[in-house]
Amino acid sequence: MNFAKAVEDVLGYKYVMNVHQGRAAEHLLTKVFAKPGGVIPTNYHFTTTKAHIEVTGASTCLEIYYDEALKTESTNPFKGNMDPQKLLNVIKQYSRDKIGFVRMEATTNLLGGQPFSMANLKEIRRICSEHGLILVLDGSLICENAYLIKQREKGYENKTVAEIVKEMCSLADIFYLSGRKNTCVRGGFIATNNKELFEKIRPWLPVYEGFFTYGGMSMREIGAMAVGVREMVDEDLASCAVEQIKYFVNRLKETGIPVVTPPGGLACHLDAMKFLPHVPQSQYPAGALTAALYIVSGIRSMERGTISMDRDKEGKEVFADLELTRIALPRRVYTVSHIEYAVDRINWLYKHRNLIKGLKFVFEPPVLRFFDGRLEAIDDWGRDLCEAYKKELGDY
Ligand SMILES: Cc1ncc(COP(=O)(O)O)c(C=O)c1O
Repeated sequence: MNFAKAVEDVLGYKYVMNVHQGRAAEHLLTKVFAKPGGVIPTNYHFTTTKAHIEVTGASTCLEIYYDEALKTESTNPFKGNMDPQKLLNVIKQYSRDKIGFVRMEATTNLLGGQPFSMANLKEIRRICSEHGLILVLDGSLICENAYLIKQREKGYENKTVAEIVKEMCSLADIFYLSGRKNTCVRGGFIATNNKELFEKIRPWLPVYEGFFTYGGMSMREIGAMAVGVREMVDEDLASCAVEQIKYFVNRLKETGIPVVTPPGGLACHLDAMKFLPHVPQSQYPAGALTAALYIVSGIRSMERGTISMDRDKEGKEVFADLELTRIALPRRVYTVSHIEYAVDRINWLYKHRNLIKGLKFVFEPPVLRFFDGRLEAIDDWGRDLCEAYKKELGDY
């Protein structure tokens, strides 16, 4: 079949199954491998991954990044690295049978799209092999990570993105992705070269996703995904978003806007705690900044902060490590003029940042609350922001 052939040619995996989305892959992986009461170490969590680790897998998600990862302004080229020493400490603390798997996410979504290095992936592979642990690679944005390795890691400057992607895949026991990113199509898949692991997951596919031949996707989508898998390693495509993000971040930096550096894959991220130092985390600065940006520009960005965290078991608020407003730049969508428009509006907003106040929940779902929750502006600050905008720039 075209799709399986594309996965084997590009990623080097012999066994593959489709699932209806990336989170469906996370559901199956945590259902099969997570140990109740155990842990899943990761370089950093993604929202849906954490939900599945903790709800489906009844495990705890452990984030074992280097401290540098939480510095929003940095020159460290690989803030998405996992700290090997911390992983060894986790292995010492929990017995091997309590660790479901070790997960590496290519360009850590919630750390501002920061990549890991090949050297780090190799080191984590070595530790996993030594301790009999399964290494899972979330490759939703693998090509952006590969392109950043090519740009930033010694010894990879003359390799192609396709070669780097294949090398990354060769280091993981199980690979999965959300199709909407690199392959530009709804859906997802899980792939491996380990028949035994594959056979453990396979029986659950028809229970939750669909029959083995389609796993919850339509044939049309699988056909499109086969094209997407082949196209995603194209150098122009793999570099497209990364180069635009670099341009966007540098333009904001030169105009004095607090933004995550170095530029990564996925998006340009505003540091909401620095942008709105007067808004406490309990009033969701990243959410407030996201709403404010929409009001003054029509740009739909995404809150990646405390709203994207769920409450703990006692119902207490869990403050996020970072409060980021993510302005995603998918491939093949934006032009430099779009970016210049965004830079202009963000600068206007920065000058008027004192008008922005916090938010409060008026409806709060119990899990992944950012998807469907409803929030209200404290003191109706949105109205004041609109008035200031109209006075200076006219009606929209
Ligand atoms: C890194 C990463 N993993 C997993 C997912 C979940 O995938 P999906 O949205 O297809 O369910 C996403 C979605 O944004 C993601 O960015």
